Amino acid sequence: MLPVFLLLLLLLLLLAPPGSSAAGLGITARTLSPCYSADLRPASERLVSAVGCTVLLTIPPLKASKAVAWEYKTGLWEVIVSYAPDRPTNTSRPYENRTRFNETDFSLQIVLQREDDGWYRFRSESEATDWFQLRVVEPLSEPEIVGNSSVKAGGNTKLVCNVLEGKADLYWWKKNGELLLGSDHIQFVDNTTLCIVKASMNDSGYYACVVRNEVSQNETSFLLHVQNAANVVLPMILACVIVGSLAGVFVWCRTRDRPCHNGCR
Ligand SMILES: *[C@@H]1O[C@H](CO)[C@@H](O)[C@H](O)[C@H]1NC(C)=O
Ligand SMILES: *[C@@H]1O[C@H](CO)[C@@H](O)[C@H](O)[C@H]1NC(C)=O
Ligand SMILES: *[C@@H]1O[C@H](CO)[C@@H](O)[C@H](O)[C@H]1NC(C)=O
Ligand SMILES: *[C@@H]1O[C@H](CO)[C@@H](O)[C@H](O)[C@H]1NC(C)=O
Ligand SMILES: *[C@@H]1O[C@H](CO)[C@@H](O)[C@H](O)[C@H]1NC(C)=O
Ligand SMILES: *[C@@H]1O[C@H](CO)[C@@H](O)[C@H](O)[C@H]1NC(C)=O
Ligand SMILES: *[C@@H]1O[C@H](CO)[C@@H](O)[C@H](O)[C@H]1NC(C)=O
Repeated sequence: MLPVFLLLLLLLLLLAPPGSSAAGLGITARTLSPCYSADLRPASERLVSAVGCTVLLTIPPLKASKAVAWEYKTGLWEVIVSYAPDRPTNTSRPYENRTRFNETDFSLQIVLQREDDGWYRFRSESEATDWFQLRVVEPLSEPEIVGNSSVKAGGNTKLVCNVLEGKADLYWWKKNGELLLGSDHIQFVDNTTLCIVKASMNDSGYYACVVRNEVSQNETSFLLHVQNAANVVLPMILACVIVGSLAGVFVWCRTRDRPCHNGCR
């Protein structure tokens, strides 16, 4: 019985990961509420958050530690905060006023700026976490649609969707609230541009450009009016008739229909 017990104990020891205390030292991060443009779920490898949001970086409880620090790197490598029990927390200048270091659990809160995109780790005298990736994305403002709001039937027209703040990963278009699909008639160029080939009256309506990135979605709409060619010809004929009758040549016009018509066209 005893050998079996020993064997089990040995097996357990072998199965336990080597240096399990160091391996267990990982960063967990999450975006704090209120921040409606980012996912609020905690993440343990990589977190995507938005400019202006606050993230909380935490580590599991440490057994014993004297000096600790949070570090950041992209191209450069810097210490965000360093702390030792007998000294005040030392926060590096770019993080002043927008970070909060908890001296009890060593967690770190940061109000994000665009430049905070990068890798983070926590270090004590004896151990360090792996580098944790924090992606900081700018939320998208309302895009702007540039185009001619009034076009003649039969002509081609295009609407261009411009993103003013942030970077969009995805663009799509809706017409009167419904997703627009590409065809010979409706073409999407360079993601940002909608081309309508040989516009007809049916193409009149509200066109919305929807933009999205990892932390936000926004849209704008644009009213396009396609004028029927008849709408242009009819007033011209009416104008001809009125001008003609005023000039006292109405009768002449009726008897010699052709020259008048030619003059109006
Ligand atoms: C704070 O940290 C910086 C760099 O990490 C160092 O140059 C500076 O001397 C430290 N200040 C204090 C008061 O410890
Ligand atoms: C942080 O706030 C203090 C006091 O309001 C100010 O003196 C200091 O310049 C600020 N630091 C930064 C980096 O903005
Ligand atoms: C620091 O963390 C401890 C333990 O999680 C918590 O009780 C305390 O309220 C925190 N302090 C601050 C200033 O957030
Ligand atoms: C769209 O952008 C505007 C600012 O241009 C902002 O006020 C609004 O909250 C954004 N909408 C969404 C859903 O993010
Ligand atoms: C818009 O289209 C109409 C009809 O095709 C044209 O007369 C007008 O000059 C255009 N306006 C602009 C700003 O391009
Ligand atoms: C635009 O479309 C091309 C392919 O047509 C794609 O490779 C590119 O990533 C797109 N860019 C954006 C910002 O959507
Ligand atoms: C315009 O739309 C109507 C119904 O929505 C359809 O019957 C007609 O064929 C369309 N005309 C053109 C020129 O697309």
